[in-house]
Amino acid sequence: MKREITNNVYYVGVNDNTTTLFERLWPLPYGVSYNAYLIKDKINVLIDTVEYSYNDIFFSQIEEIIGNEKIDYVVVNHMEPDHSSSLLKLIEKYPDIQIIGNIKTLGMLSGFYGITKNVKEVKDGETLNIGEKTLTFHLTPMVHWPETMMTYINGDGVLFSGDAFGTFGAVGEDVMDEAADMTIFTDEMYRYYSNIVGKYGGPVEKAIEKLSSLPINYICSTHGPVWKKYVPQIVEQYLKMARYQGDEGVVIAYGSMYGHTADVAKNIYDAVVEAGIKNVVMHDLSEVDASYVLRDVFKYNTLILGSPTYNAELFPKVADLCVKLEGRMIKNKNFACFGSFSWAGAAVKRLTAFAEGMKWQIIEPKIEIKQAGLDVDVKALSKQLAENIKAVVSC
Ligand SMILES: Cc1cc2nc3c(=O)[nH]c(=O)nc-3n(C[C@H](O)[C@H](O)[C@H](O)COP(=O)(O)O)c2cc1C
Ligand SMILES: [Fe+2]
Ligand SMILES: [Fe+2]
Repeated sequence: MKREITNNVYYVGVNDNTTTLFERLWPLPYGVSYNAYLIKDKINVLIDTVEYSYNDIFFSQIEEIIGNEKIDYVVVNHMEPDHSSSLLKLIEKYPDIQIIGNIKTLGMLSGFYGITKNVKEVKDGETLNIGEKTLTFHLTPMVHWPETMMTYINGDGVLFSGDAFGTFGAVGEDVMDEAADMTIFTDEMYRYYSNIVGKYGGPVEKAIEKLSSLPINYICSTHGPVWKKYVPQIVEQYLKMARYQGDEGVVIAYGSMYGHTADVAKNIYDAVVEAGIKNVVMHDLSEVDASYVLRDVFKYNTLILGSPTYNAELFPKVADLCVKLEGRMIKNKNFACFGSFSWAGAAVKRLTAFAEGMKWQIIEPKIEIKQAGLDVDVKALSKQLAENIKAVVSC
């Protein structure tokens, strides 16, 4: 099926509705797409490839557009195998094809695939005339790997952005955002960004600033719909995520073996809702994949974490979430915590030390119960906590 985005720029990507875990880690309830694009001009240029197992569909889509014409160049914006693993097959089909990348790409082409011939290095800001159109290459390191770059069609205002502005979720036959269900893609973009790119807020912000003077009519990322109608919203969402700026809202996440810590969580939930805070979500970490908790931590500005004491440590599911939050170097959060123990409490101490390490703003009181906490007025403490949160959450 031919899918022209604009003026001889075609979508030749594929949907993956089979893989259950992206990077063998992150759930894919709506699938994922591996996007590649073909620019038909005097010189035909392919932008990226697709995951290896899908290359039959990929090549048949290309042939539908250019028949037995050759592809002159493939631009490798990103070397992660979900986009580069069809390169050897591509070279087999088009033996004269030139591979365009930057100095870091070239090292990886050799390291991953043994490719050293027919490679063309481009520098930041370099242009390539392909007939009617001219391409400019913009190096954007660490969005999401060191070699990542973006390619821009001057005049048409088309930005091939690699993983930036990407999202989980397979695309429809119509790949344009006007046809997409944005209630799904907005959340899936939060999940994609927080799970995959989350650590690299600085480089993402830098890349967006670097490209801010370009007129952008279309953003063609490597995952998800092609952005046209929603370009301003998508850029704004990415900037917010890159700056770790959550909307007003509270995420309550907890672990609990026998229900006592869960009871505290429910009290806090009710109090926070009662206080009139806009968005309140609660996750039992034994029930939900951390992927969704990370999404909500990026979406909202306040996190309340609760844990039982477990062998003088945090409950493993809570400890695991803390590792994931640290790994993404998340900034700008308001934080509160609660916990339980039966003989020597450690959970609340550990959570406090964790939040101090993250340099988050800690909101009191910390609610700690021993055994069933019968001597603690959890309801009153939750009310006090909710009021204190309310005072900072909408700032
Ligand atoms: C495997 C296991 C290890 C525990 N380790 C500790 C501990 O090191 N120190 C402590 O004070 N309580 C410990 N406890 C007790 C729990 O922290 C306490 O019962 C708590 O109330 C459980 O909360 P929950 O009902 O939300 O699961 C442990 C309990 C279990 C089941
Ligand atoms: Fe990637
Ligand atoms: Fe990717």
